[in-house]
Amino acid sequence: MISSRVDIAAQTLEEGGLVAFPTETVFGLGARADDEKAIKKIYELKGRPQNHPLISHCADVEKAFSVAKEVPSYAHALANKFWPGPMTLVFLSNDDGQICNAARGGHESVAVRVPEHKVAQELLSKCDFFVAAPSANKFGRVSPTTAQHVESEFGDELFVLDGEQSEKGIESTIISCLEDEPSILRAGTITQNDIDVALGNTAVVDPSLDIAAPGNLESHYAPSVPVVILDKDSADDSTDHDKDAFIGLNQPAGSYLLTKIPENIDDFAHSLYAFFREAENMKCEKIYVVAPENIGVGIAINDRIKKASHTFGESK
Ligand code: TXA
Ligand code: MG
Repeated sequence: MISSRVDIAAQTLEEGGLVAFPTETVFGLGARADDEKAIKKIYELKGRPQNHPLISHCADVEKAFSVAKEVPSYAHALANKFWPGPMTLVFLSNDDGQICNAARGGHESVAVRVPEHKVAQELLSKCDFFVAAPSANKFGRVSPTTAQHVESEFGDELFVLDGEQSEKGIESTIISCLEDEPSILRAGTITQNDIDVALGNTAVVDPSLDIAAPGNLESHYAPSVPVVILDKDSADDSTDHDKDAFIGLNQPAGSYLLTKIPENIDDFAHSLYAFFREAENMKCEKIYVVAPENIGVGIAINDRIKKASHTFGESK
């Protein structure tokens, strides 16, 4: 059920239950991170392989660092600049029990995030434990950006904390803090350039070349409607697509059942998953996407649409 009772949500988590909650990236499916049994419920409900580690969330930066064996100075700079916000940092775990082995997917490292969304902050500040939370979707499916998306994914029995639609719309930028220099493991709305500026140009590995986060698969984020990536020229064909959906920064020549022209690249990220779900609901036959330029936030969008189209092996 969808509820705005933050107190009940916090109590449910405390007692080892599952709660879905909003963040500014996507909605998360949370359980207390120090409780193996609670964490197992997440893996079961999602149908997620047990070696895919989860991100653990808390309300403040100091607490986030308390699970790390070592915090390099660049991680302090990143946290000062981007937390609370759509960034996840990966550290070697100090294994102090706050993030149990199951939440780490059996890995020695740990991923932590301090989200910015007002409701997430309210919830997490009521919890004296970390809340481990993957995106609140079945394994391999599109991440949810509204409470209704989560409910349509898991039904009425799950407690879904209500809150404003996720502003960013795609998952957090994941940065490894395991080496002398940071490296991006998953692209997000905090871009390589943002990181370079925050760190005074420390070299950062380009995520479009090598994606290293465990569980980051080629096929992912996929709607049930096949996604077809168009290049700019094929978007100019004037064939009618009465049963298809279209999303791209420029108006297509042909006519579609469902069309979304995001206002800019941030709006593209914000709208993408909600659009995929709308196309599913309208029973579109195909979703055509004109990929934005592969720079800045466009890198994260290209990553997600490539993975969404991979299942069907279609690209044009
Ligand atoms: O925006 C987000 O990050 C959302 C919200 C809810 O915080 N969460 C999210 O979780 O996207 P999920 O489970 O869908 O993706 C988490 C990914 C894993 O698949 C893995 O790639 C990476 O985070 N990850 C988690 N722990 C890691 C670790 N110790 N080392 C490297 N990557 C890790
Ligand atoms: Mg996910």
